[in-house]
Amino acid sequence: MPGPDKITLRRPDDWHLHVRDGSMMAAVVPFTARRFARAIIMPNLVPPVTTIEQAIAYRERILRTVPQEEDFNPLMTCYLTDTADADEIARGYAEGVFAAVKLYPAGATTNSDAGVTDLSRVSGALERMQEIGMPLLVHGEATDPEVDVYDREAVFIDRVLLPLMVDFPALKVVFEHVTTEQAVQFVSESSERLAATVTPHHLFINRNAMFESGIRPHMYCLPVAKRERHRLALRRAVTSGDARFFLGTDSAPHAASAKESACGCAGIFSAPSALELYAQAFNEEGAIDKLEAFASINGPAFYGLPVNEETITLNQEVTSHPPEVTTTEGDILKPFFVNEPLQWTVQGD
Ligand code: NCD
Ligand code: ZN
Repeated sequence: MPGPDKITLRRPDDWHLHVRDGSMMAAVVPFTARRFARAIIMPNLVPPVTTIEQAIAYRERILRTVPQEEDFNPLMTCYLTDTADADEIARGYAEGVFAAVKLYPAGATTNSDAGVTDLSRVSGALERMQEIGMPLLVHGEATDPEVDVYDREAVFIDRVLLPLMVDFPALKVVFEHVTTEQAVQFVSESSERLAATVTPHHLFINRNAMFESGIRPHMYCLPVAKRERHRLALRRAVTSGDARFFLGTDSAPHAASAKESACGCAGIFSAPSALELYAQAFNEEGAIDKLEAFASINGPAFYGLPVNEETITLNQEVTSHPPEVTTTEGDILKPFFVNEPLQWTVQGD
């Protein structure tokens, strides 16, 4: 039976977002602000956001790029380094500046050089976070270069995540942008203090997309898309009704010149159509009725925040994708699926 061709949801939030800084930030923030009420802002700037002062300043810069008619609340995160100061982190959380701490294993992804080299170095900070109920957001990929790139997430579970969950039995953890059936299974079988975000692109592409008739830099992100069976496992997870899975776009803009290069950057820019694409994926699974929990309810529940009271309506109606974006400095940003028509349209656009 076909599902409804119209759906009204509480306004969603994006629990994993990169907005960068400067002219790129000014170009991308409006796409998120017109859809999402809140977003967890990734701290992987250069230099990374590690102090309360930096987070406050970054948040103010973001707010200056929000169009006047939009109501958008950026939730800031602290980039965990080997020398992290547990007092600064706890004070930032108590003062409502930091919503969470982000763990990048050193070398795992874009701007992760300042990340953690060994979890034993940050056990003081993790203990403190566990005490105060502050979530740890984890980029879950093993960094050992001997591990095959497609196995890095699964190996991370065994080598890092499982021991972390055992050593810190009350720490709240978000396993970010999961891409494998192993991650889905691990989260499903874990306690409620472990949740996961899922991106729109990982619901649509498998690893073939990077090599379709040639190398496709705009399909390259980290964690890299996996085999088809993993994509299907992600679709089952997000439509399962399990409250531990929630929306995190990982929209990660890079200038086209930096992606279309001999050593192209990882990151897919999905903000212009992320919500419409999630709706399409849920509808294709016959589960459009599960979208609201994933997009608007499970995230706030995990973070202990209120749900949004405003609503947003999507219609099943074909429209063209927003075009590529040019920043005031002339950088071109190419959105995910820019040449594909959208199957769902936000009412009032
Ligand atoms: C992100 C970025 O560009 O900052 N890239 C990506 O491929 N997702 C970093 C990240 O979230 O891994
Ligand atoms: Zn990310």
